[in-house]
Amino acid sequence: MAKLHPDLQNKEFWYKDITLIPNRLPDFERDRVDLTTYFTKRLKLKTPFVSSPMDTVTEGEMAILMALLGGIGVIHYNFLTIDEQIEEVEKVKRFEAGFVFNPVVLSPQNTVKDVYGVNDKYGFFSVPITEDGTLNSKLSGIVTHRDIRYRKDMETKLKEVMTPREKLIVAKKSETVDKNDLQAANGILRKNNLDTLIIIDIDNRVVALVADSDIRKNEQFPLATKDENKQLRTFIAAESRFKIAKERIGKGYDAGLNGVIIDASVVFKEQLEIAKYCKENFPNLEIVLGNVDSAEMVEKILKEGSEYCDALRVGIGPGAACITQQELGTGRAQASAVWDCAQEAKKLEPKYGFMPIIADGGIKIPDIIGQDVAKPGDITKALALGAQTVMMGSLLAGLDESPGEKEFDYEENKMVKKYRGMGSIEAMEKRGALRYGIEKMRIKIPEGKVIKVPYRGSGYDFIPELIAGIKQSLQKQGFKNIKELQEEADIRPLPK
Ligand code: XMP
Repeated sequence: MAKLHPDLQNKEFWYKDITLIPNRLPDFERDRVDLTTYFTKRLKLKTPFVSSPMDTVTEGEMAILMALLGGIGVIHYNFLTIDEQIEEVEKVKRFEAGFVFNPVVLSPQNTVKDVYGVNDKYGFFSVPITEDGTLNSKLSGIVTHRDIRYRKDMETKLKEVMTPREKLIVAKKSETVDKNDLQAANGILRKNNLDTLIIIDIDNRVVALVADSDIRKNEQFPLATKDENKQLRTFIAAESRFKIAKERIGKGYDAGLNGVIIDASVVFKEQLEIAKYCKENFPNLEIVLGNVDSAEMVEKILKEGSEYCDALRVGIGPGAACITQQELGTGRAQASAVWDCAQEAKKLEPKYGFMPIIADGGIKIPDIIGQDVAKPGDITKALALGAQTVMMGSLLAGLDESPGEKEFDYEENKMVKKYRGMGSIEAMEKRGALRYGIEKMRIKIPEGKVIKVPYRGSGYDFIPELIAGIKQSLQKQGFKNIKELQEEADIRPLPK
């Protein structure tokens, strides 16, 4: 178990109040460090990062980034309809796949414009064409980017540009899907130099497809968080209100969802009911409950619902856009909350089994060295204190992959992006009030604010840097993995 200095025992402290002391003599390079961890009881991640379910942080694009780089994205629910949220899940599931089941299809009567519409929505151009534009009718051909890229007339019918069925190389369901043989399908794709291989049944109906770009993506992102079908994994957040959460989770499940965070700023009793329902109806789904911030709350959840809960989210009010602590006088210093909750979960492990802890909120990195709000190494500190993963909002909101546009801030003289707490009046005006259990109240007390965060460019550059930084921190302390860090970290106070 990590050593917590006696001056920190039973005290409140933030990440900025502590430091990790290297006591070993490292004899290995940074790249030997392995950051594999558990997001939930069953789900392993190669990178301990989770993007927060906030409407300025995680939609499909962020969830794809996180999963490709070994973490996981949790898609927010502050959409006007459930279907809008589920479309974001679909984007992730379709992004990279082995067999793409239920592919998008069009009919010969659709137009070039419709193919651009598919690309806008899902990010690809290759579309099988069936007689009536559904999966129930026979295959008529395929349209790919090559077929439409020089077409100026958007109203051109696809029957005029598609490669017709008789010229198509296709694969049989019986020889690929039925044997779960992705290799065989990839072999046909490569041998014939195809962009997309369509798989058909004996009635010439489309069953699935396999895309060449997916194979290349598989090779490019070795850390990716994928399911058995090689599709990226993703989670959604659902509100702690049984009726609506039930509908949301059911639709998400049909779209291939991997797990749900039942979201509330402070854990609700109703969450246990929703979690129980999920486990009974969708046993494959991972369920995360929260937020909690004390050993007492951890014990209560484990006692009442350890079999319905696969991870616990820790943090009440430490986030960059939170004002809960100032406004309501509730919540606590995040580093001590993570320590206490992780200690309690460990203590109760013999009774209830392993329960991963997600350190949610309060992670900062320096933007300008020496700036007083910047605290390097917060992620490593959270892991040393016992968290298996860290959930981040403000740090990721400045990336290209978060929703919203970057803008120039004349006062700060730099590029920024907007970031808002889900308890801000602005977010609650949409639907965020559900998170705080006050959606029916006339008087709404905000628990969050709207701020600007530095624009950080592409996440495909930024996240690998963050990963390298954490590996370097572990290497400096002589730890090859998170388990060693958690067993032997030497955590001491910094002078105030
Ligand atoms: P960071 O520090 O990474 O924190 O930006 C992200 C986490 O903040 C929580 N969150 C809020 N907490 N009022 C709060 O008290 C809010 O309006 C609010 N919005 C988000 C949430 O747990 C998130 O993951």
